[in-house]
Amino acid sequence: MTSTGWWFQAKHGLDTRGPFPRRRRRTLGDAVAGRRVLITGASSGIGRSAAIDLADAGAVVLLVARREPELQELVDAVTGRGGKAFAYPCDLNDAEASDTTIGQILDEHGGVDILVNNAGRSIRRDLAQSYDRAHDFERTMQLNYFAAVRLMLAVLPGMRERHFGQVINVLSAANLFGGPGYSAYVASKAALDEVSTSFQAETLDENITFTSVYMPLVRTAMIAPNAQYLEAAALTPEQAGRVLCDAIVDRPRRIGPTFGRLQQLVDVINPERADTARHRRFKSGI
Ligand SMILES: NC(=O)c1ccc[n+]([C@@H]2O[C@H](COP(=O)([O-])OP(=O)(O)OC[C@H]3O[C@@H](n4cnc5c(N)ncnc54)[C@H](OP(=O)(O)O)[C@@H]3O)[C@@H](O)[C@H]2O)c1
Repeated sequence: MTSTGWWFQAKHGLDTRGPFPRRRRRTLGDAVAGRRVLITGASSGIGRSAAIDLADAGAVVLLVARREPELQELVDAVTGRGGKAFAYPCDLNDAEASDTTIGQILDEHGGVDILVNNAGRSIRRDLAQSYDRAHDFERTMQLNYFAAVRLMLAVLPGMRERHFGQVINVLSAANLFGGPGYSAYVASKAALDEVSTSFQAETLDENITFTSVYMPLVRTAMIAPNAQYLEAAALTPEQAGRVLCDAIVDRPRRIGPTFGRLQQLVDVINPERADTARHRRFKSGI
């Protein structure tokens, strides 16, 4: 897992690869020029920022989200800068629409080299408020897990045939240190992480990489309704977009904040202590 100190970097505007980044053998342009990069959730926030950087570096960006005007505006912005972008408005919760859209993308572009599963739904709700809300767990699984898996199943045959591909899953730092109050959301992202671990094992010798990005807080529309995050340290969408670009250049298996990695270690060695830390965090309202 790549070592990062993202909060520190967000504050000081440093390289998102951390204070001691590995020396690179290639640039983003080397990694993506002419590559077909499918980005879900491209109409705003992290996906939109990543799309601009990737197109600037020479990728052909294939943009999926529900809001057509926002996607079209992004296509215009990218083409205005000399890049190549195509909009595919689609509600990924609709399995039939999703299959039609990915079929159209494969027909029109001949394949997808890099899939960024970024579209996501977050729900903040304590257990005490969730007893009659089983549908929260279904809705988060629908978009964060089933929709992403559907896309993987559609693009992986081509990637395996060509012996090249990368799937980037935008998960949450809460997948590393726990997310009390976000149970449905964190569980759906964990499912995506797990299925990718199995797929990675099956395709390791085929030049296909699955990258789990454990994203920390990012100041986007997603966290806007939550007043407790108003003053919290957070990446800008541009910084988070660059994290996804770094993931494409370096192709790590996992990338996430150092603090979360340490917390995971504590969880393995002393789970009761990790539970206590999570419980305290929950009680203090963080
Ligand atoms: N912001 C954070 O603090 C944070 C932290 C950790 C992880 N993340 C993850 O980062 C990813 C991007 O989120 P963001 O922060 O950039 O928030 P955002 O600006 O709200 O972006 C969410 C994107 O998902 C798309 N989307 C939502 N429902 C969809 C659907 N049914 N079909 C197709 N697209 C859909 C939205 O587009 P439309 O509305 O146009 O469909 C939008 O482009 C998410 O997976 C989120 O879980 C965010």
